Amino acid sequence: MRTRPLKVALLGCGVVGSEVTRIITTQTADLAARIGAPIELAGIAVRRPNRVRAGVPAELLTTDATALVKRGDIDVVVEVIGGIEPVRTLITTAFEHGASVVSANKALLAADGANLHAKAVEHGVDLYYEAAVAGAIPLIRPLRESLAGDKVNRVLGIVNGTTNFILDKMDSTGAGYSEALDEATALGYAEADPTADVEGFDAAAKAAILSGIAFHTRVTIDDVHREGLTEVTAADIASAKKMGCTVKLLAICERAADGRSVTARVHPAMIPLSHPLASVRGAYNAVFVEAEAAGQLMFYGPGAGGAPTASAVLGDLVAACRNKLAGTTGAGESAYTQLPVSPMGDVVTRYHISLDVADKPGVLAQVATVFAEHDVSIDTVRQQGRSQSGGDTNDGAAAEQTGAVRRAGGEASLVVVTHRAPDAALSATVESLRKLDTVRGVASIMRVEGE
Ligand code: HSE
Repeated sequence: MRTRPLKVALLGCGVVGSEVTRIITTQTADLAARIGAPIELAGIAVRRPNRVRAGVPAELLTTDATALVKRGDIDVVVEVIGGIEPVRTLITTAFEHGASVVSANKALLAADGANLHAKAVEHGVDLYYEAAVAGAIPLIRPLRESLAGDKVNRVLGIVNGTTNFILDKMDSTGAGYSEALDEATALGYAEADPTADVEGFDAAAKAAILSGIAFHTRVTIDDVHREGLTEVTAADIASAKKMGCTVKLLAICERAADGRSVTARVHPAMIPLSHPLASVRGAYNAVFVEAEAAGQLMFYGPGAGGAPTASAVLGDLVAACRNKLAGTTGAGESAYTQLPVSPMGDVVTRYHISLDVADKPGVLAQVATVFAEHDVSIDTVRQQGRSQSGGDTNDGAAAEQTGAVRRAGGEASLVVVTHRAPDAALSATVESLRKLDTVRGVASIMRVEGE
């Protein structure tokens, strides 16, 4: 074994950085044996050097991240700061000074991955980011390496733990969104500002990264259709249950049926309870991959947190160090297919639409005609009669497919589930429905996936 250590610089020392430091400083002999040379933490760049960090050697702390990455003797830079700048500049500078980079930065990779990969190649170094998607779950390397000989057609994942916790809570207790969010905040799952999670930005960044790797093309976060879960109601969850489904915030990356384009989207969706993703509870993540030869694969585990994310970082660090030692680099970006990303309107899926309608003869026929005019085929209709005050008065099962429940001058709630149809056709259908005098409101529209 080589005795001269490989030098590692750490950028950021929060929850993940502290765990990375702990593992590097306590698992020294094992890491050295696995790499073939010892590794040494050469410096840790932080913004607040006086903050107490248990187990982090104070003499390694510096506030000058630029000087650290410019030292010239650093073999691998580990970046766990997050955000676009100054991180992009720091990573580029690290490449220019011969260092490989291990990053957990989904936002940066989803915004500018192609440029960073190109810079890594230019300087003959590695860029690894297993920790950027789904924490500890090995996903990037299996997609990039283990499935490199297969053809991936679909990636369907729960890639945000905070939102899965919220939806799971709504499902198991009947709580509304705000109540479930409050609990997620109290337990430390949701940030003080939960926007990135609940509006789907975090999941959209991960969807961009996964689509690019799965389909050997380039997808940025701007290509990803995004809807958060703030509009999901307890009624949606109850309606999903009636259909034998649950609601999940899904990241869905698909190759078009003709193979000529891809789509990437993040939105709440109903999935059948029989689907493996339906049983993913709490803040866990899971990603379901469909490949031509492999069939269906499920990756499951903790998607966030200091130690799980550090596990993914360390895996990349060992790989980058091994490559340094061998004087080589690992597999870089593979974007040769150059498949275009189609707009959301081209996505074909099923829909669950909840309408508040006048409860009088002919309304069901009117509504059905609008669906037919837009070539959207109805699978089932459930009607619930409601009094003028708006309370539910009937269980829908008795009225299914018949529209028979009626209350003179009252309102009814119609739940329509469609067969597969293009998103653009569904949007046009809903627009036309809103123009009907008898349709008092469109209470919710949710896609149905995983069947
Ligand atoms: N905030 C993310 C989540 C973890 O809730 O899953 C980091 O991507």
